[in-house]
Amino acid sequence: MFLFGRKSKRKGKEIDKNRLPVHIAIIPDGNGRWATRRGMPRSAGHREGANNLKNIVKYCNNLGVTYVTFYAFSTENWSRPKEEVDALMSLLLEFLKNADKELEGSNIRIKVIGDISRLSKELQTEIKRVVESTKVNTGLNLVFALNYGGRDEIVNAVRRIAQDVQGGRLRPEDIDEETFSRRLYTSEMPDPELLIRTSGEKRSSNFLLWQSAYTEFWYTDKLWPDFTEKDMEEAIIDFQNRNRRFGGI
Ligand code: IPE
Ligand code: IPE
Ligand code: MG
Repeated sequence: MFLFGRKSKRKGKEIDKNRLPVHIAIIPDGNGRWATRRGMPRSAGHREGANNLKNIVKYCNNLGVTYVTFYAFSTENWSRPKEEVDALMSLLLEFLKNADKELEGSNIRIKVIGDISRLSKELQTEIKRVVESTKVNTGLNLVFALNYGGRDEIVNAVRRIAQDVQGGRLRPEDIDEETFSRRLYTSEMPDPELLIRTSGEKRSSNFLLWQSAYTEFWYTDKLWPDFTEKDMEEAIIDFQNRNRRFGGI
């Protein structure tokens, strides 16, 4: 009786390291509310959020996850007050400048998806430097979605396909899902298997629209700065206990 009880209690309550989601996408939402509730400026929430991101990245890397993509700045986030946009951009710059020191020995590779041409020259240079210097790493792929929008990504892919057709390099009848996927920012990456959004919001906000066709969604009311390794563990266990059917039975 005791043994039986103990056995069944363990089932599905720990992470199965052999069945980890290969790609986890995260919408780290709620930084602003976290700060406002404490009577602090929203930028303080973003700073706290950036610190928390490092903890979660470390956790995922140690666990052996292959890809983690963070929605760091959306194409719609430009509509925020300039002061807040500037604060977000300078946090990003700071993160990238310290990346070598912070990531040393971690074997993490940094990638970026999104249209970075609208970011400052300084940021663009720093992004290229970090992406280049971590290229040889074989551990976690840490992906930042910057000035990323799913619709923007799809429109860009369509434009490139149209150019290829116009240039005689592609025939309309040869366009398939593969042709399309290869022209997205994520062309080299597997689709996310698990998408986590914090702060109680339950929408995609234009994140990985094409790629999330069969992604499992997991939500928590916790604000991003309060999201812990334990919450991450809970999300992964929940994912592992789901039945993914992909249209089958
Ligand atoms: C998410 O937190 C961080 C970014 C958009 C970069 P928010 O700034 O959206 O926080 P809330 O949703 O206003 O609380
Ligand atoms: C999504 O959060 C974008 C990022 C976390 C970067 P938002 O806070 O911008 O999304 P909405 O406006 O609540 O949909
Ligand atoms: Mg938000």
